[in-house]
Amino acid sequence: METVLSGIRPTGNLHLGNYFGAVKNFLRMQNENNCYFFIADYHSLTTHPTPENLHNNVKNVLSEYLAVGLDPEVATIYVQSDVPEIPELYLLLNMNAYIGELERTTSFKDKVRSQPDNVNAGLLTYPVLMAADILIHNADKVPVGKDQEQNLEMARKFARRFNQMYNHEYFKIPQAYNFGAELVKIPGLDGSGKMGKSEGNGIYLIDEPKVLRQKVMRAVTDAGPTQMNSPISEPIQNLFDIMKVVSAPDTLQFFVEKYNSCEIRYGDLKKQLAEDILNFTNPIRERINDIASNEEYLRKVVAMGAEKARASASKTLKDVRSIIGFKSF
Ligand code: TRP
Repeated sequence: METVLSGIRPTGNLHLGNYFGAVKNFLRMQNENNCYFFIADYHSLTTHPTPENLHNNVKNVLSEYLAVGLDPEVATIYVQSDVPEIPELYLLLNMNAYIGELERTTSFKDKVRSQPDNVNAGLLTYPVLMAADILIHNADKVPVGKDQEQNLEMARKFARRFNQMYNHEYFKIPQAYNFGAELVKIPGLDGSGKMGKSEGNGIYLIDEPKVLRQKVMRAVTDAGPTQMNSPISEPIQNLFDIMKVVSAPDTLQFFVEKYNSCEIRYGDLKKQLAEDILNFTNPIRERINDIASNEEYLRKVVAMGAEKARASASKTLKDVRSIIGFKSF
């Protein structure tokens, strides 16, 4: 069985786009592989969260992922900062990571441009910490989005370099986990682009009914069809696309037919869409809130995750230390 590792940024909440994209794939992955899911709280320190935010963000993401079905009995779910072997491997890998190559990564260059007052060393070595996350379990595969491809490439490079330097094929070269054609893209509410691409175009699993209805009612539309069977504009197609995943097939068909016969009322379409989304998100939101208020359960989940993650991590670290040449007296 292959080892698959996935790092989750403790920022933001899950929206429908995440749900029908990454989350669906995570749920499938966890049944087919030896999966590690962890919350990358060390990485989040590059942006200097307050102590309260640091903890609450981890708790929120954890609660959401558990609520949608990540199963701590099936996968290893842990918090990065609970596994001290990761920062130790990070220290060791840092010795073979060159400043020049780190400075040349696009994400680092972007940060230098976007936050010139906070170009900290953690940002520079972000890819090394990410490599440590991956290599500590000798992962075969890592599901990554477009924005993380370069970081994965760096992890591959550091793994190869270590193997070469010590003339020992120790680390596997991690591959990108390919979701194939199954990746459903959910559009946002602002007329164009993917959900989550811009501020305010997302429907979050945690959105209260009132907020959610408001968002859907304010979704961008167009002036309406003027002739029978006219091509569907992007904003309307987007609403149909969301409907496709949350509504009954005949509901979607009903509104498509109304559109084609120029009888559609966008207000009705949106009302129906909002109710169908709520039907879907209501039970999930309740689960999120239940889990988030169940400190004892959360404590149990992270303790179990840390124990499993550390078992695997300490084995790797022991090997790595020995390969490097650390010997006890
Ligand atoms: N950098 C990833 C992101 O921003 C999060 C992450 C940290 C990660 N460590 C990882 C992803 C290891 C995959 C593997 O989304």
